[in-house]
Amino acid sequence: LHDAELARDYDASLTGLALASFDVRFAESVFDRPGRLIDLGCGTGRLLLPFAARGYWVLGVDLSEEMLKQVGAKAAAAGVTVHRLKANLVDLSAIADQSFDYATCLFSTLGMIVGAAERKRAVQHVHRILRPGGKFVVHVHNRWFEIWNPQGRKRLVGDLLRRIFRREPAGDRLMPVHQGIAGLTLHLFTRREICRLLRDAGFGIRAIQPLSLDPEARLRYPGFFGFARSYGYLIAAERRG
Ligand SMILES: C[S@@+](CC[C@H](N)C(=O)[O-])C[C@H]1O[C@@H](n2cnc3c(N)ncnc32)[C@H](O)[C@@H]1O
Repeated sequence: LHDAELARDYDASLTGLALASFDVRFAESVFDRPGRLIDLGCGTGRLLLPFAARGYWVLGVDLSEEMLKQVGAKAAAAGVTVHRLKANLVDLSAIADQSFDYATCLFSTLGMIVGAAERKRAVQHVHRILRPGGKFVVHVHNRWFEIWNPQGRKRLVGDLLRRIFRREPAGDRLMPVHQGIAGLTLHLFTRREICRLLRDAGFGIRAIQPLSLDPEARLRYPGFFGFARSYGYLIAAERRG
């Protein structure tokens, strides 16, 4: 959160990653007319800038001041207005009820929140701050994709055993050291789990886009064992009236 270098290098670390443009296009297809958009865990604002340029009123929320500084610098350079708020996604009480038309939480940011109860609180806040009919685009990693590597298969079996014998929740993964960061936990979702989390908070599911690691990012033939072949999901949800 306090690492300026990490924030400075963040955009470069996404170079060549198909998902980084595919998710913006997906959000553009869901958020069809200008309105108020909030990006939760906005990082350096890669989603916010194109929407601001198209006339949306945009707010980026992040816990990292360094990330928010990058957003400010990029917005100034591009000549667009991007509002910024330093806050924890688990407590968005600073934001008024029904004050946004659109919300996003991309690049597995929801999975960075540790604990099922905290993730639930975050999603409940998203529901609260969207107007009825407001749209939410969220990205998660698919837990079943772990089946394709031996270590992943061990983790899936470990999940199962911990669930049966200790009644512990499944899907939390300690990530390997990445850009000098150790000890980061990421929650991997099943499709059913993320859909249930959204529905329980009061969202209807409008579209689910299974993802792949291919250059086009979208999973082909999702009907063919898509539950295991999907690297992750982009989901469009709508706040029910
Ligand atoms: C993986 S990055 C994704 C950034 C951006 N959404 C994107 O798609 O490029 C996750 C971002 O979420 C922020 N973040 C993680 N947990 C957070 C939390 N509980 N509250 C607010 N921001 C958080 C991090 O600081 C980081 O900028």
